[in-house]
Amino acid sequence: MRTAIVRALRIVAVATALLPAAGPLHAAPDLERATQLVEKRCSVCHGMQGESSGEFFPRLGGQHAEYIAKQLRDFKEGRRKGEMTRFARNLSEEVIEGLGLYFSRQKVAPHPPAEPELGAVGRYLYHNGNRFSGVPACKDCHGASGEGAPRLPRLAGQRSLYLERQLKDFNQRERTNDNDIMHAVASKLTEFELKALAEYISGMQ
Ligand code: HEC
Ligand code: HEC
Repeated sequence: MRTAIVRALRIVAVATALLPAAGPLHAAPDLERATQLVEKRCSVCHGMQGESSGEFFPRLGGQHAEYIAKQLRDFKEGRRKGEMTRFARNLSEEVIEGLGLYFSRQKVAPHPPAEPELGAVGRYLYHNGNRFSGVPACKDCHGASGEGAPRLPRLAGQRSLYLERQLKDFNQRERTNDNDIMHAVASKLTEFELKALAEYISGMQ
């Protein structure tokens, strides 16, 4: 039963990931203004290469342009809430597209895992899930190397504290733009599994 639900969710997630973007028609990316904005504002927290300047700030370097643009629209229009709302409020479509393009072209180095044994638990869960409690394998949607797809975020190399917080927010439905998929996943994770996954994923190349 549980596997059937996960299979259905996966089909939905992968199918939407492959569909052409719905919603606003794509504007021509304004890379020049986006770069200026990164220098002036975004780099303070996310870094010039999207490497992030602290554990709570997500890495954006190498993230899919379409996913970044979707999150910025979600912040702008209030579907995803948080301190990013004020930075997204006045962004035009051209700049949103430009910011996605800018960060998707950056490359960031992964973090070596601090606790290899904990990371090994995370590696097992990421690739196999937990069949005893119904946690699906993350790789089914996010890819075997954590590379994601245009609508499925890249996870490889992401900051571990940010990952932990997102999984908790999905579980408590504080991150509201998850379309139920990640809530269903995160609500099955124990604290130990969550830490192990964050440890492993942040070290993925
Ligand atoms: C004061 C620090 C700060 C600044 C400045 C800032 N951000 Fe953020 N950003 C954050 C934090 C914190 C989060 C995590 C938000 C959350 O979980 O609610 C975030 C999340 C994001 C996300 C979602 C990432 C993901 O993986 O889902 C994107 C995209 C983003 N920021 C882009 C930008 C852009 C583009 C700018 C400049 C216009 C910017 N941010 C400026 C702190 C900042
Ligand atoms: C059925 C498909 C599916 C599975 C399985 C899945 N995810 Fe996700 N995940 C998604 C989608 C879709 C999103 C994007 C949510 C959105 O658009 O706001 C996402 C978002 C995330 C994010 C937020 C990334 C960011 O940059 O903010 C994290 C973290 C995450 N998933 C971790 C995991 C982990 C860990 C597992 C395995 C335990 C997992 N996911 C399994 C579909 C899936």
